[in-house]
Amino acid sequence: MVKKNQTLGEFIIENQEAFPYSSGELSRLIRSIRLGAKVVNHEVNKAGLVDIVGNYGETNVQGEDQQKLDVYANEKFIQTLINREIVCGIASEENDDFIIIPGKKKDNRNKYVVLMDPLDGSSNIDVNVSVGTIFSIYRRVSEIGTPVTKEDFLQPGNKQVAAGYIIYGTSTMLVYTTGSGVNGFTLNPALGSWYLSHPDMRFPEDGRIYSINEGNYVHFPQGVKKYIKYCQEEEGDRPYTSRYIGSMVSDIHRNMIKGGIFMYPKSSKAHKGKLRLLYECNPMAFIVEQAGGKASDGYKRIMDIEPEELHERAPFFCGSKNMVEKAEEFMEKYRDKE
Ligand code: AHG
Ligand code: MN
Ligand code: MN
Repeated sequence: MVKKNQTLGEFIIENQEAFPYSSGELSRLIRSIRLGAKVVNHEVNKAGLVDIVGNYGETNVQGEDQQKLDVYANEKFIQTLINREIVCGIASEENDDFIIIPGKKKDNRNKYVVLMDPLDGSSNIDVNVSVGTIFSIYRRVSEIGTPVTKEDFLQPGNKQVAAGYIIYGTSTMLVYTTGSGVNGFTLNPALGSWYLSHPDMRFPEDGRIYSINEGNYVHFPQGVKKYIKYCQEEEGDRPYTSRYIGSMVSDIHRNMIKGGIFMYPKSSKAHKGKLRLLYECNPMAFIVEQAGGKASDGYKRIMDIEPEELHERAPFFCGSKNMVEKAEEFMEKYRDKE
């Protein structure tokens, strides 16, 4: 049962049976992400301060070399994930190849793989605008006890057992799904505890926000150009309003609360768009669908794409169901004019 304001710890214990396979391991995995998020949150919050007191941005207050925050976040999440003997492999935006985790025990039963974007929207860090972390969790498909293989990571999004994001915003939130709805927890920084602030999040079926980098307009496919014009037309509840932060997590989080569509289509400059299928599109798609929204590449469901490469990209349209369907209508109508 979902009770507003209960802590994440209480929530995990109470809802353990609802977790796929309910062995308790997935709960422990979520707990390690919760810990990594707190550590990264602490660092993100003092990003400006370190700049002020650091030596021309080369050293921090402790005299250590300053790291780029996405590298820092990557290391922290990897550390916390490795520590608990649940994860057998990690793939990250920051690592060219996946990491095999041998496990400390001789008989290594670890069965989960995690794919992540440790810091999403990192260009926003320097300007004090919210950033995020995205994670996606699968059960391995190769034999337990052997080193993980590429196939363990190249699974379609519809095989995810859990996915979530952390948003380091005006407050810090952890939003995740294990396949039975979406719940959002807000960090109380004074206590270091997460409270269920957004139980059972639902994506409004309709919305009035469209989020896209319109600077790329001339390079967009005809369907996207026409859909943007449709959003701007004076008709019924239109024109819609345009909002684009440039941190996908924040853009989608806002749209999930207010209703809207987020698009990162392909363009004549980038034939598969920019966003990475495995650790950006798929986890966000899982969350969005679990909240009643829709996620597609403009023509078909994102989570049904069979991945071929760890860092492959995909065009991404996600958000309020009716808005995504409308955008798909335009894509289909102008399909031959791409
Ligand atoms: P990352 O910081 O992990 O590289 O991801 C940035 C992504 C995404 O968060 C955002 O929506 C998009 O890049 C912004 O790209 P443009 O600047 O091309 O609009
Ligand atoms: Mn990203
Ligand atoms: Mn990133």
